[in-house]
Amino acid sequence: MTAWEKRYATRARGMVASEIRELLKLLDQPDIISFAGGIPDPALFPVPAIESAHRRILSDPARAAVALQYSPSEGYRPLRQWIADYMTTLGAPCTGEQILITSGSQQALDFIAKLFIGAGDTVLVARPTYLGALQAMSAYEPVYAPLPRRGDNQRRSLPPSAGRFALAYVMPSFANPTGTSLDIADRAALLEATAALDVPVVEDAAYEALRYDGAPRPALIALDAARTGGIDEGHVLYCGTFSKTVVPGLRLGWVAAPLPVIRRLVLIKQASDLHTPTLSQMVMHEVVQEVLPAHVAPIRAAYRARRDAMLKALAAEMPAGVEWTKPEGGMFVWVTLPAHIDAAALLRRAISDARVAFVPGRAFHADGTGANTLRLSFSRADEAMIGEGIARLAALLRATSSNPP
Ligand SMILES: Cc1ncc(COP(=O)(O)O)c(C=O)c1O
Repeated sequence: MTAWEKRYATRARGMVASEIRELLKLLDQPDIISFAGGIPDPALFPVPAIESAHRRILSDPARAAVALQYSPSEGYRPLRQWIADYMTTLGAPCTGEQILITSGSQQALDFIAKLFIGAGDTVLVARPTYLGALQAMSAYEPVYAPLPRRGDNQRRSLPPSAGRFALAYVMPSFANPTGTSLDIADRAALLEATAALDVPVVEDAAYEALRYDGAPRPALIALDAARTGGIDEGHVLYCGTFSKTVVPGLRLGWVAAPLPVIRRLVLIKQASDLHTPTLSQMVMHEVVQEVLPAHVAPIRAAYRARRDAMLKALAAEMPAGVEWTKPEGGMFVWVTLPAHIDAAALLRRAISDARVAFVPGRAFHADGTGANTLRLSFSRADEAMIGEGIARLAALLRATSSNPP
């Protein structure tokens, strides 16, 4: 048997399957209530619109020939234009030329990391932050340092070893995993601090449209465009996705960014997979025109009810010493346990004894801290299951406090 491990490039060392992922594979068992996967509820997918768009495109020979053919790396022009119009409604006026369509926003994160991060460069991230972004960026061997927060003296708060600043990665609205958002003053301070450090900002807006209460807050790219005169003059790379408002399975996301950056990302796209599937893009273009934004209202209503059920159950059931966030949108509540409880050990007992699951929080921390934290997702379970699952978890925590694992 070949000794494969020693043949891999050094950057592959960081690419390890987590033990948690292995545990989470057990979650298909029907009696487990899972708050683990942060995925949309398929009952909310606009299946008839997707089905009829496929039929319309494929039953027209001229359109079928386009849909099933290779196409430009930048993306399907009408969909790029639709996205540019959407970005303009967000306050970031742009043209289709400033949009690259990617295979989900996950691919955008990978491409941006590939373009900007050299080994040893510093990437600024929140702690905790999106695990998938850490996975995408870690392949390019950065070191991580904390994102500037309002009032920080950023230079002084960074380790002296910090190399070139490659990127700052941020989810301003309803972050994964915490559910929290930056207020307007935080957003302005972040833009100012990153401009002073001369570091581009990756704005991951995956959950942006899923606001359940509170007033909308401007996207970073919009604030930056207003500050500088346009997105070409600014330093924000915006990653959007159709995964949370339409479906994730068509794998469609985008980057809106200054034109020179888009041109470079197009070269990376070409080398990686030539283009995002043409048929998916054409179908999405029809579907968004037909069902958005009306389709987002029922999605928001369903998730809002589940968020409310989870917050109510947590307040009613959790023992003293447990704290949690109160998100205004998105799919997640972030729980902090008393310092002595290890959430990974708790998950084993939660699955075997209480038949309830969550994601332990350590993996979301670039610095390996956060052992006493966990992420709960409310997107998949109905309100009754949420109440039952939180009651089971709270009972386990009470038992754990008197009998630690
Ligand atoms: C914060 C965040 N960014 C990006 C993604 C990637 O989404 P997609 O590749 O489906 O657009 C996810 C997926 O859950 C996410 O939570």
